[in-house]
Amino acid sequence: MLLQLQNITKGYGEPGTHSYRPVLKELNIEVAKGEKIAIVGPSGSGKTTLLNLVGALDQPEEGKILFDGKDITGYSKTELANFRNKHLGFIFQLHHLMPQLTLIENVLLPLLPQGKSNSKENKEWAEHLIKKVGIWEQREQKPSQLSGGECQRTAVVRALINKPELLLADEPTGALDEENANALTELLMNLSEEEGVTLINVTHASAQADRMDKKYTLKNGKLI
Ligand SMILES: Nc1ncnc2c1ncn2[C@@H]1O[C@H](COP(=O)(O)OP(=O)(O)OP(=O)(O)O)[C@@H](O)[C@H]1O
Ligand SMILES: [Mg+2]
Repeated sequence: MLLQLQNITKGYGEPGTHSYRPVLKELNIEVAKGEKIAIVGPSGSGKTTLLNLVGALDQPEEGKILFDGKDITGYSKTELANFRNKHLGFIFQLHHLMPQLTLIENVLLPLLPQGKSNSKENKEWAEHLIKKVGIWEQREQKPSQLSGGECQRTAVVRALINKPELLLADEPTGALDEENANALTELLMNLSEEEGVTLINVTHASAQADRMDKKYTLKNGKLI
């Protein structure tokens, strides 16, 4: 198993006080290498909360998160940052592109901390992906000069630039019309198959969720 979540409990506010709001309750899931899974559930059910835990952006109150058999819940801040950089790709609910950077600069941004954004190999990989998702003509444009779908495709390329093992997508098609949403889902599926990337895709759209290998619904703090 690439990823195992065991008895994960997470809420917001001070545990044990009336301000505490439980979100995830003894949640369990296992994701195999190369598997593509969808997570659906109503607004506020905890989908983003769950992705933040898997993405090591937040910590559970209880339970274990095993990645390749190693428990990441005990990692220090530095270890978590390295873990994210090395193994994970994120596509956020809002694409979070840097407005002052061009498309291609945005794509290369995750490589900066490793000092690798200028290497020939990485530039070629970036160009390959940009061409593949059909935004090559737009590569020197800034996000304000791109369409919503082009911004989302840029975010997909940026998430893949580090060749992650696990790609976490939080409603990547949320801001898109049906045609572009279907095209982006197709793209994510193809990329994850060709590059052997495991995909966790949070989506409201059942047509997109049905395309994944497995579909989980987040309900009452658990995955069904
Ligand atoms: N930082 C926070 N502090 C307090 N409460 C929070 C915080 N983040 C989320 N919540 C609450 O936790 C619950 C789950 O939020 P979450 O963002 O995980 O939902 P979601 O399933 O992703 O919803 P959506 O489909 O609208 O994106 C919500 O009720 C939300 O108000
Ligand atoms: Mg959300």
